[in-house]
Amino acid sequence: MAKKFIIGNWKMNLNVHESSLFAAKLAQEVPTYRDVTTAICPSFLALQPLSLQVNHRQMKLGAQNCYWRDSGAFTGEISATQLRGLAQYVLIGHSERRNIFSEGDREIRFKVQAALRNCLTPVLCVGETALERKDGDTEHVLNDQVVSGLLNVSSEEISEVLIAYEPVWAIGTGETAGPEDIEKAMKIIRAQVSHLFGREASKKVSLLYGGSVKLDNAASILSAKGVDGLLIGGASLIAPEFAGMVKIAGELAKEEAKNEVKE
Ligand code: PGA
Repeated sequence: MAKKFIIGNWKMNLNVHESSLFAAKLAQEVPTYRDVTTAICPSFLALQPLSLQVNHRQMKLGAQNCYWRDSGAFTGEISATQLRGLAQYVLIGHSERRNIFSEGDREIRFKVQAALRNCLTPVLCVGETALERKDGDTEHVLNDQVVSGLLNVSSEEISEVLIAYEPVWAIGTGETAGPEDIEKAMKIIRAQVSHLFGREASKKVSLLYGGSVKLDNAASILSAKGVDGLLIGGASLIAPEFAGMVKIAGELAKEEAKNEVKE
């Protein structure tokens, strides 16, 4: 049965000390389930102390970005090679990176490869802007971003990649895509993966939804067809909300496992 993923993106919030205190709070509240992978993505600075602090069976660590070269004269950058051993996941192509820091498709593709080369699981973020949605371009944008981000990924590697559908208009706005929109987007992404890597790979690839996910809407989003997990920004900084979402995922996974046995 498919695993579920609950990933918290702390963005540029919490200093090192605050991160440690918050992680300690999460450690008390986040339940552990066999079929749920929980991860938190603090700032780069907090990765090192948290890597020594967290119980890795309870929570994995992710970085919010990485550079695609392994080492060299790239002042201010942090490579996937440097993250190795500290983080297990890395967000790539988040819309804030694409839009605020002008990251392009080529760079994003190189970062996906750098993550895989360094034994990190890339979480490739894709999603349309409000304008693209209004113009009816969602399918086109998702296909483009998936094809481009996964170029040069091999069929052996695709099962190591997570893809997060994050409509840009839903990030940090309080607006979420409805279950129908989410199911449609997941179908488009899975069909593209199938086209690129075959049907088996498309069944195995895990797809996350992100964009104003909260405890209130987590169950309905996680129950949408094709959704294997959540990428959570704001609500991941509220311990009971985040822990509650892990619990929802865990209970859903248990129920699915039960139904599978019956079938
Ligand atoms: P949000 O952010 O949950 O605050 O909308 C999601 C994200 O940026 O990954």
